[in-house]
Amino acid sequence: MRDILISENIRGAAVDALSTRFDVSCLPDLWKDPNALATQIAEFRALIVRNQTRVTSALLAAAPNLKVIGRAGVGLDNVDVDYATKAGILITYTPDQNAISVAEIAIGQMLSLAHSIPNANYDTKGGNWNRQQFIGIELYGKTLGIIGAGKIGYLTARRAQAFGMKILAYDPFLTQDNVYLSELNAKLVELDELLAHADIVSCHLPATPQTIGLMDGTRFRKMKPTAYFINTARGEVVREADLLAALKAKQIAGAALDVRAKEPPEPGELELLPNVILTPHIAAFTREAQQRVTKAICEDVARVLDGKPAQNIVNGHLSR
Ligand code: MLT
Repeated sequence: MRDILISENIRGAAVDALSTRFDVSCLPDLWKDPNALATQIAEFRALIVRNQTRVTSALLAAAPNLKVIGRAGVGLDNVDVDYATKAGILITYTPDQNAISVAEIAIGQMLSLAHSIPNANYDTKGGNWNRQQFIGIELYGKTLGIIGAGKIGYLTARRAQAFGMKILAYDPFLTQDNVYLSELNAKLVELDELLAHADIVSCHLPATPQTIGLMDGTRFRKMKPTAYFINTARGEVVREADLLAALKAKQIAGAALDVRAKEPPEPGELELLPNVILTPHIAAFTREAQQRVTKAICEDVARVLDGKPAQNIVNGHLSR
């Protein structure tokens, strides 16, 4: 039996340290070949992944020795949590380690949209000096609507507050007396109210059966025509065809997407719109966040293999 299989590009001092104590196999491209992965995983006790490895029931069925899955990140949409739980496989993840980076990119997208920074950059590098073309808006005094007020939503709102923004929040799991909402002076509202009043709507929801397709045509039509939509969470939460239609019909002013329903996406019309900013799921990709994520997941997987309690367990109640 072998110890730890890493099926994505996860490296650094923490992986090196793990390798001094355990038999670690780092195969950064293995996620691309599900059949090879299913063959390899049979002998391993632990699997460490980021978000590209599809940890399906079929894969887990081929992993009789697997004790623990380490998800280096926060989203769990690539892991069949129910199947793993029923199979008695522990899942650990790193819910807080990349939250600051994601909040920072959400703020970056707000500033980029409000001040047309990407378009002004391309235009000026093209030899132009079009000051009038790039008159922006201030974030100061505007209303930010946070959809999903977990850690990343909270950190985004805190930073937005420093810009003098007012905060509205929608989160079905919170009540108005929540201490973080009080600290932000944020008003907890229904989603439709948030959409109707926010100047910038920032999405911070995981992809779950309840959230997939939540931002559809009806919801985009509720937004102000001057409002911007930002998604740094999961692409599946947005119906991209509906977002495209809303942008083309000028029902909203623009959008910034770091995540897409399919990654990488097929080239389409969103890529051609000047009021859309696209980035390739890089919100959590900072040196600092990746170091923290890698360290936390390596340490937690080591704990499990050492027979100690993990710190960030997803499925605390194993059914086997
Ligand atoms: C996360 O879920 O942690 C981020 O989206 C980045 C990633 O998937 O690795």
